[in-house]
Amino acid sequence: MSKATAVANPNIAFIKYWGKTDQALNLPANPSVSMNLAALTTVTTVEFRPGLRVDTVAIDDRPAAGQPLERVVEHLDRVRSLAGITARASVASRSDFPAGTGLASSSSAFAALSLAATRAAGLDLEEAALSRLSRLGSGSACRSVPAGFSLWEGDSDEESFARQVAPSGHWDLVDVIALVAYRHKAVSSHDGHALAATSPLHEARLAAVPGWLETVLEGIRDRNLAAMGPIIEADALAMHGVMMTSVPSLLYWMPGTVAVLQAVRMWRKEGLEVWFTLDAGPNVHCLCGPADAEEVRDRLGNLEGVRDVLVSGAGDGVRPVDYHLF
Ligand code: PMV
Repeated sequence: MSKATAVANPNIAFIKYWGKTDQALNLPANPSVSMNLAALTTVTTVEFRPGLRVDTVAIDDRPAAGQPLERVVEHLDRVRSLAGITARASVASRSDFPAGTGLASSSSAFAALSLAATRAAGLDLEEAALSRLSRLGSGSACRSVPAGFSLWEGDSDEESFARQVAPSGHWDLVDVIALVAYRHKAVSSHDGHALAATSPLHEARLAAVPGWLETVLEGIRDRNLAAMGPIIEADALAMHGVMMTSVPSLLYWMPGTVAVLQAVRMWRKEGLEVWFTLDAGPNVHCLCGPADAEEVRDRLGNLEGVRDVLVSGAGDGVRPVDYHLF
């Protein structure tokens, strides 16, 4: 087979990946836990063609150039070396949500690319190997490979990949996402990781993670949002504290971000059980039970600074599909 297509969902982390022990291998400074987002998808088609002189890559129907292109070509090189082939590839990738705004588009992008490219190269990797390969493209992508809720841990290149801790059907938790900006962020998370260690707060956050991780894993096991909510918020704020105090400082928040954080805390005081988290961007993910999702969506939609609201439950792992983008 020389052409294959895969679909992946991005994931939202409850315990974040921020900072690396190895920049090139994307080995994380701490373990992380996440949920795949069923309502958001990236579809990627890869075709290896013997006649091509260079890899050509289209992202959301536009030719890729610069760093995004280089990262895809490097990833194709990994797949070529695994498969023992030299052919260049045509790649098309399309996401149904805005990229680079803290919706973790690189997680679904590199998970889908890894599956489509390995299949197109004639390889059939097991989940762990596919997760590990996806990690080399973008760290968080390894967590989009298993379905549902995933834990990414492991200190070495061989051992660092994500495993499922619960399938998507285990819990009908909902992520209601407040989009406060569509603009592409100035510093990608890929580059931001390198700055984590310059923050005086980085070590303090890393020291807190093992205890937080335990609480979140128990919360997922017991479907107990009230137990893990405070930890999810604490780690999101700790990560942004590290970002803001790194050198140079990274400030991803916009006025609308703060408006949502304040509102969520006020709503909780009124009895609505909703907790926030954010990735490397201004948009806010609000976690709640299915019975509250509509209320949370309506309230977010009425806030000043919120431009759109997306709603998603837990999603599947990366999977092949039988249609192609070209
Ligand atoms: O996979 P990267 O390099 O884009 O890193 C993503 C890091 C965060 O989204 C900010 C946190 C996480 O764990 O997903």
